[in-house]
Amino acid sequence: MTVDQTELRPRERSCTAVAGTNIALCKYWGKRDAALNLPATGSLSLTLAEMGTRTTVRFGGVSGGDRVRLGGAPADQRFAFRVSQFLDVVRKQAGISDAAEVVTENSVPTAAGLASSASGFAALALAASRAAGLMLAPPALSGLARLGSGSAARSIFGGFVEMARGERADGGDAVAHVIDDAGAWDLRMVVAVTATGPKPLGSTAAMERTARTSPFYAAWVTGCDADLADARAAIAARDLDALGRVAERSALRMHATALAADPAIVYWNGATLAAMNTVLELRAQKVAAYFTIDAGPHVKVLCAAADAARVAEALAATPGVQRTVVASPGPGARVIEQG
Ligand code: PMV
Repeated sequence: MTVDQTELRPRERSCTAVAGTNIALCKYWGKRDAALNLPATGSLSLTLAEMGTRTTVRFGGVSGGDRVRLGGAPADQRFAFRVSQFLDVVRKQAGISDAAEVVTENSVPTAAGLASSASGFAALALAASRAAGLMLAPPALSGLARLGSGSAARSIFGGFVEMARGERADGGDAVAHVIDDAGAWDLRMVVAVTATGPKPLGSTAAMERTARTSPFYAAWVTGCDADLADARAAIAARDLDALGRVAERSALRMHATALAADPAIVYWNGATLAAMNTVLELRAQKVAAYFTIDAGPHVKVLCAAADAARVAEALAATPGVQRTVVASPGPGARVIEQG
């Protein structure tokens, strides 16, 4: 990867960073390179303030390999391995070999299936690189976060963020950037939680199966550039209706490609469909609300701040919706403490 303006500082041994999750309005679904997590298409998202991850990384003084804690308990082996692999990249760049202690907390319970790898790897990229003594410029940090999870590249930045597909084989140009800080646009994302527990199929395996077996995958990839152009124009014009329509279209097409995979990938449950229907009913009552759905059964609804309470109430009254969370646009990843 390209490392812009990288300089080695005297080793700062520990760092705590936070990052907000982000919800894609133009989805990332498919990789052009699995090892480097290079996306097959660009994507565009909104970073959120209230849902995210806080991570502390400490290098040195840790014996017997990396120690990873998640939500107050030792992380399961799979997650711990993924974190260690990511730390190996940071160690290599920084020229160190120390084991690390990683303590990470999500602001939404992991069991709700909402804990996001996006905020997780964005916070880890910032905390680990700083703790290792690296000062990475934001584009390089975004490229580093991408190696942990494709969507994490976007959570380095706040507001509306676009992730580039990039052309280079080494991924140097597959990084995100801010397109609009969303500052003067009072939007909300209302999350309707429709299940507990982890999703049945992780996004990496699901993307791979979709690309390999779905007859709709090529059409999905072809259509993404037009969605991105429409989303950028809608954001520039502060046109919620236009942005919401792109977001729904992108999410439905992403799920359509996955539903057509073999075996089919079905992330929705009954409450997912009921919540989508609630959004359509709200629109029939002239409430500007638009849904999007990621690799899971939860429904995320974009609306104006002034309508958020009404949208949350309608979703909470929808059969099968367990609870709702209202989130607002938020800043990018940042350091809280360094030692
Ligand atoms: O970052 P990953 O590998 O978990 O992929 C995220 C995929 C979606 O959330 C479904 C879409 C997106 O762009 O965030």
